[in-house]
Amino acid sequence: MSATDNQPGNEDDQPGNEKKQPGDDRMWKGWLTGGSSLLEEINASVRFDHRLVQQDIDGSIAHARMLATCKVLSAGEATEIVDGLERIRAEVDAGEFVFDPALEDVHMNVEARLRELIGPVAGRLHTARSRNDQVAVDARMWVRDAIDRLDALLAEVIEVVSERAEAHHADVMPGFTHLQCAQPVTIGHHLLAYGEMFLRDRDRLRCARRRLDESPLGAAALAGTGYPIDPRESARSLGFTGITRNSIDAVSDRDFMLDYLSAGATLAVHISRLGEELVVWSTPQFGFITLPEDLCAGSSIMPQKRNPDLPELMRAKSGRIFGDLMSLLTVMKGLPLAYSRDMQEDKEALFDAADHLEISVRAAAAMLRGITFRTDKTKADAALGNTVATDLADWLVADRGVPFREAHSVVGGLVKWLAVQGRELDGARPAELGEFDPRFAELPPHVLTVEHAVTRRDSPGGTSPARVREAAAELRRLNSALTKENR
Ligand code: ARG
Repeated sequence: MSATDNQPGNEDDQPGNEKKQPGDDRMWKGWLTGGSSLLEEINASVRFDHRLVQQDIDGSIAHARMLATCKVLSAGEATEIVDGLERIRAEVDAGEFVFDPALEDVHMNVEARLRELIGPVAGRLHTARSRNDQVAVDARMWVRDAIDRLDALLAEVIEVVSERAEAHHADVMPGFTHLQCAQPVTIGHHLLAYGEMFLRDRDRLRCARRRLDESPLGAAALAGTGYPIDPRESARSLGFTGITRNSIDAVSDRDFMLDYLSAGATLAVHISRLGEELVVWSTPQFGFITLPEDLCAGSSIMPQKRNPDLPELMRAKSGRIFGDLMSLLTVMKGLPLAYSRDMQEDKEALFDAADHLEISVRAAAAMLRGITFRTDKTKADAALGNTVATDLADWLVADRGVPFREAHSVVGGLVKWLAVQGRELDGARPAELGEFDPRFAELPPHVLTVEHAVTRRDSPGGTSPARVREAAAELRRLNSALTKENR
């Protein structure tokens, strides 16, 4: 079976078609006769959980070594087991390992192969362990790796944001509220808003990583074990700082996945909003950016098309990622303690979210790197819609001592007066505005420019070019500090 195989094994097996498995050697069978193909079809998870195989081998090696340290296994037995597991790893790496759905899951597949390779001593590996703590530790390690991959991709995207923000620290574009023209902002400032979101995403992922940093190995089925084990040793060798404190919780907890999925869902919101802006900005009606040609798709009928498929997918991926989170929340809610087979349904959601989060972040980085801002157009549009009205009111306050509420109402009246004549503040001369209110006759003309509007907004976190320059450098500093930080 290959990694892309999505359907369980035998097409001939109809649900309910009871049949005894020839040479039935399922390891859990105990006193059961078993053998329904329906059971196999619904129970088998190896078509997706084969993705845990490296973690499963690591976990088993750590467990075998710990059992030897604690004299539960002899040193010789542990060596045989570890060597066998390393041979299995070599087979997996070479793409030669064959996963068999009849063996249910990745754990049984690895153990069955171990028995083929080293004989009955393989049966000693599962001492003081259950698949319940085994899958829990495997999944924690998988999520830990997924967090590290996503965090590294986010660090890259933030780096791109700060570079592009620095380059466009003084270029002006319209700032919107309600998607209506509000006040001019700098392009760098707008981009840095995404930098902040991605920085918080990194922080959320790191919180999730800190919380999952406890090994559940040793919890066994749910109650712990009577063997004299040292779970701290296996925890240490698997890179965990500590061990779980309650064996029932250890096998029934999937919070670490929910933490990852919910941090991922929030990240997906950010990517989706960015995707939406890129789609809108690249229309001729906005014309704020040109999309990189190699990331645009064409149309099969309209030869002129340059479609923003990539940002559209950035926008859409959020749907399935929210779905993955919702699916696991729903599986977990109402489950009695401790392990239930329901929990096997955690993995497809997890893997799906991880795959699509990673490609979304890569897409975001490529887009932010590849777009060209049409700064002539963004600047011209920044003046549309009377965006300097606040600056005019502020001038009345600062220069003429008018209370802000009154200034607001005066400028509101002026905008209406202009609108009736089919005009806006953009392009109006002070002398003309003086016809509406004589105080405007002495207005310094630069108060009506978008450059003035952005330059004067130099409050902390504000849009002025000087602030944006500092903020781009600060973002870069925070980003690399996070990368260097000891976890
Ligand atoms: N494949 C199972 C899962 O992913 C492994 C644990 C099975 N445990 C059990 N008691 N049946 O959840």
